[in-house]
Amino acid sequence: MDATRNIVILTGAGISAESGLATFRAEDGLWEEHRVEDVATPEAFARDPVLVQRFYDMRRAGVLAAQPNAAHHALARLDRDWTGDLLIVTQNIDDLHERAGAHRVLHMHGEALGAWCTACDARHRWTEPLSDNPPCPACSEGALRPDIVWFGEMPYGMERIFAALADADLFVSVGTSGAVYPAAGFVQAAAEAGARTLELNLDRSLGSRLFDETRLGPASTLVPAWVEEVLAR
Ligand code: OAD
Repeated sequence: MDATRNIVILTGAGISAESGLATFRAEDGLWEEHRVEDVATPEAFARDPVLVQRFYDMRRAGVLAAQPNAAHHALARLDRDWTGDLLIVTQNIDDLHERAGAHRVLHMHGEALGAWCTACDARHRWTEPLSDNPPCPACSEGALRPDIVWFGEMPYGMERIFAALADADLFVSVGTSGAVYPAAGFVQAAAEAGARTLELNLDRSLGSRLFDETRLGPASTLVPAWVEEVLAR
């Protein structure tokens, strides 16, 4: 008997690659055009807010133009049909999991379609540019920044994530290079808690040796096949 009840899934840029959103560490990745220190740190934002806002204005527009692919749809189906605990922890700032219909999603690195007011701490759904410094709808200050976790900042939901990992029977990683902590450490936390660990990725990642099993291929093929397997058990 398969006693799997509680599943934690970690997704990375690879799951959205086939929706046309560039990954970070591919040759055509975002870091090729911009150094991380120029766009994804609080120091960069303090130094050149217009450059950083324009960079995320482009990311936001890209997210709005993209559509979920078969991998997002398969995970949404699993979310709908799985009666045990399930948490999709995504490092992605796009909303493609939600647009495919998934509900149990946690954005540990924030969201491209979010604006955070550094004056009054309000958070807003935001689909327009921020580079022209619009006022915060709550306090009227022009102090909105992308609601994205930059390097050196604390990811969202860590307590909830580690609680889910501690209870997990199965941990699945999809489309992530394992280059960025704390997400890269989740596989070890899950394994220490007794979970089986599975990696679905295009290429072997930095963390592949830490998984019980690695399946290589595009997410749009591997994820639907795996979901089919899990729901058939
Ligand atoms: P990366 O760009 O580092 O890694 C993407 C992974 O997806 C690689 O291992 C690819 O082999 C794999 N991949 C590419 N296409 C795929 C496909 N069609 N199907 C399956 N896998 C595919 O992206 P992340 O690991 O998500 O953080 O990067 C982690 C974090 O680094 C991001 O969240 C971002 C960045 O700094 C912040 O912005 C805070």
